[in-house]
Amino acid sequence: MNMYDSDRMGDLLLNAGYSVSDEPLSSDVLIVNTCHIRERASEKLFSELGRLRNIKINRQNQKKPTTIVVAGCVAQATGEEIFRRASYVDIVLGPQTYHRLIDLIEQNKKQLEKNEKTAILDIEFPQESKFEHLPNIGTKNFSAFLSVQEGCDKFCTFCVVPYTRGAEYSRPVADILSEAQSAISRGAKEITLLGQNVNAYHGQTNSGQKTKEVGLGYLLRALADLNGVERLRYITSHPVDMDEDLILAHGEIPALMPFLHLPVQSGSDDVLNRMNRRHKISDYYKIIEKLLEQRSDMKISSDFIVGFPGESTKDFNATIKLINDVKFIQSYSFKYSQRPGTPAATMNGQVVEGEKNSRLSILQEVLVKHQEDFNQQSVNKILPVLLDRKGKKPDQLVGRSPFMQPVHVNTNQSDFGKIVNVKLVSATSTSLKGDITHTGSRDNMHYEEKVERALL
Ligand code: 5AD
Ligand code: SF4
Repeated sequence: MNMYDSDRMGDLLLNAGYSVSDEPLSSDVLIVNTCHIRERASEKLFSELGRLRNIKINRQNQKKPTTIVVAGCVAQATGEEIFRRASYVDIVLGPQTYHRLIDLIEQNKKQLEKNEKTAILDIEFPQESKFEHLPNIGTKNFSAFLSVQEGCDKFCTFCVVPYTRGAEYSRPVADILSEAQSAISRGAKEITLLGQNVNAYHGQTNSGQKTKEVGLGYLLRALADLNGVERLRYITSHPVDMDEDLILAHGEIPALMPFLHLPVQSGSDDVLNRMNRRHKISDYYKIIEKLLEQRSDMKISSDFIVGFPGESTKDFNATIKLINDVKFIQSYSFKYSQRPGTPAATMNGQVVEGEKNSRLSILQEVLVKHQEDFNQQSVNKILPVLLDRKGKKPDQLVGRSPFMQPVHVNTNQSDFGKIVNVKLVSATSTSLKGDITHTGSRDNMHYEEKVERALL
């Protein structure tokens, strides 16, 4: 979501006649887009700001005024405090108001010219949606992100998102289709729908004279009908919002990739209850079973938190059992991080750092084993790969398999942006290497059928 927001801020700047640069010394405006989800992510802001301060002073000595903007969720949660800790910051801007970026920069420039004190704070949750004010220029990407839903009403007890991103909001279907259409016209083959709670999507659509509310399954079918959409994904989902219609969509839409990121956080019902996750582990197994009924090739990834307050060894072992049962093919795992203002931060039974560290390393070892096993099992198979990045070596391109595995291919640049069939020849725990067999795009066969035919 932050990458998407950064791109949209880039669009705003381009639209206003700026160019986007990753060279701070030659930039008039320096923007840091921030994440508040865990303590470590927030801390990074102030060390980065120290670096930008030196750049600002250096540029000031050359009579070049510089605007420093702090955007994103740390800006939202920390607000004015940022000016106190870093007085050289000019603008603090929350994730729901960044459509006002250009006006604020212009206002700041005038202040800088007059040598006035600058400290512009805009962390409102405005009534109008920022999406109505964002230009749709977009960077050219073969794999494009598209924000369809924002905010969260779930209030998991460890999480800051409902406070920093605000209440759930879904964009209307028509707006999403038009943004998708323009991403396709710029070359996108794959669209990843984004939302903090993407499968809670409940957007408006018009049928005849009436407006009705539809879920993510409907939206995915509508997107799959657009010409040129070869791959669809969505991230991040909550287990309680995996409704029947969405699960059915996995069986119906060939473009919907057979890979789902479905965070479970813990394998213990007690911990899930204290996390306010609103489901039991048995529900999670049921969802996976139903998804596999729709697509037998479906694979799952997840997020895990270790050392949540009150997590016992038994609870932790239940998480390990879940991992060994489901065999997640990729996952993110974190030590519980106390976030100010969230209910879990003041719960009894906080787990000591040493214990969190040892649980995390045990858990990660098991996760890596399953990821490596899956990558090894992929060797000798043929998978379609969207080659959307240049490799480190010339004549090397990198892409993603349907399961988000990075695949390195030796080929010439004319294949850049294509979906090609790749015979996988070797694997590590994090990536694969392969050779192109023949180029082509998705057809109605599931990839496993293709593999079986190719291997016959
Ligand atoms: N501590 C540790 N991990 C957290 N996450 C969210 N909040 C916290 C926290 N306070 C993790 C969850 C979530 C992912 C985006 O970040 O696993 O799914
Ligand atoms: Fe945070 Fe996700 Fe829970 Fe919402 S559903 S509170 S974003 S962890």
